[in-house]
Amino acid sequence: MAIRNIVKQGDDCLEKVCRPVTEFNARLHTLLDDMRETLAAADGAGLAAPQVGVLRRVAIIVDGEGGYLELINPEILEQQGSQEGAEGCLSVPGRYGMVERPQKITIQFQDRNGERRRLELEDFLARAACHETDHLEGKLYLRLVTRFLDPEEVEA
Ligand code: CO
Repeated sequence: MAIRNIVKQGDDCLEKVCRPVTEFNARLHTLLDDMRETLAAADGAGLAAPQVGVLRRVAIIVDGEGGYLELINPEILEQQGSQEGAEGCLSVPGRYGMVERPQKITIQFQDRNGERRRLELEDFLARAACHETDHLEGKLYLRLVTRFLDPEEVEA
C-alpha cells in the first residue's frame, strides 16, 4: 500500500465527471487500499478517486466502526428529509462550511469484487456519501455552503 498525493482545489481532476469502473481487478484493489491508507494518514472522513488523480467512479468513507465503506459506481436512488451540518474536504484544507444534505439516502453501488449492493444510509454516512458522489461528478461541496465557519466553530 502507498499513501497517494491528494490534489487540491484548482486542480482539473476535481472538475471532471469520472468514468465508471468496468474492471474489478488487482489494479482497482490497489487503488482502494491506497485510498484507505491515504484517508487514514490525512485523518479524513471520506475520499474520492479524483482526489488522488484517478478519474474513476470510486469513493470510500469511514463507516464509524473502524472500517471503510467502499463505493464503486455509486448511485443515489432515493433521498429523504434534510439535515444541516459542517463539511470540509481534504482537497480544500482549512475550510469548513454548513451544507444541507438529505437525512437519509438509498444508495446502490458495487463492491470491490463487482457485486451489486444497496444500502440505506443516515445522518453522517448519508452526508459523507453525498459529498463523495458529488466528487465523482466534478463537484466540490463549496458550491453548496450556506455559511462558512470560523475554525473555532468547527472545534466545538
Ligand atoms: Co471532499
